[in-house]
Amino acid sequence: MSRNRRRSRPLPSFNSNIGWGDVSHSVAPFVPTPLKIVQNMLQLGEVGPDDTLYDLGCGDGRILFTAVEEFDVKQAVGYDLNASMCEATQKKINDKGLKDRIKVVNGNFFHTDLSPATFVTLYLTTSGNSRLRPKMEKELREGSRVVSHDFPIHDWTTIKADAPVHYVVGSHKIFVYQVPEAFKQDMTLLKGLEEASRLGKIRDYFRRKDESD
Ligand SMILES: C[S@@+](CC[C@H](N)C(=O)[O-])C[C@H]1O[C@@H](n2cnc3c(N)ncnc32)[C@H](O)[C@@H]1O
Repeated sequence: MSRNRRRSRPLPSFNSNIGWGDVSHSVAPFVPTPLKIVQNMLQLGEVGPDDTLYDLGCGDGRILFTAVEEFDVKQAVGYDLNASMCEATQKKINDKGLKDRIKVVNGNFFHTDLSPATFVTLYLTTSGNSRLRPKMEKELREGSRVVSHDFPIHDWTTIKADAPVHYVVGSHKIFVYQVPEAFKQDMTLLKGLEEASRLGKIRDYFRRKDESD
């Protein structure tokens, strides 16, 4: 066989059906939140029986199960690109008889409507959060809380004057936000600045006018 013919032999095909979903949409790899931190996240965001929790990138479903089993949330919904993990989570939901309370969807959370959620948990990346921010600002209803593990949502602020920018638990950070105050504050501030500069311009105009009269 000539060297050229050997070179043109097709490469073995890559079997992409290994259960990792379409990773081209992924904004974070799978790293589980330690259970203690999950509990802290849910406590700090004050989740409760009236809440519908969405875990965007739910991994092995630990936040969904903790929310329902320990915090009695009405409904917990998780999205993940990883088909194998979603299958395993679905099996656990069936085994525990929690089909009415927990739903897992093997899909891209950028393609879902977030408006049913009243509580959102995130453990993504800062850039992932930034990509998600406009969608959350548009779709999340008033009063919803967003709790992010380790990564802040840039341009959002915590609402309570006495609340820290983030909570620290060991080597972990927990960011707690409420909609719409988390981003409205900035807009109000901006509006205030615009207003101040507009009034400033009017004042300058009249000052100049006075001087020229
Ligand atoms: C750091 S893990 C967090 C898992 C779980 N929320 C936790 O805190 O234990 C991030 C997860 O997000 C998923 N993910 C990343 N981008 C996604 C997307 N666009 N749609 C759905 N899931 C996504 C990954 O597959 C991964 O399982």
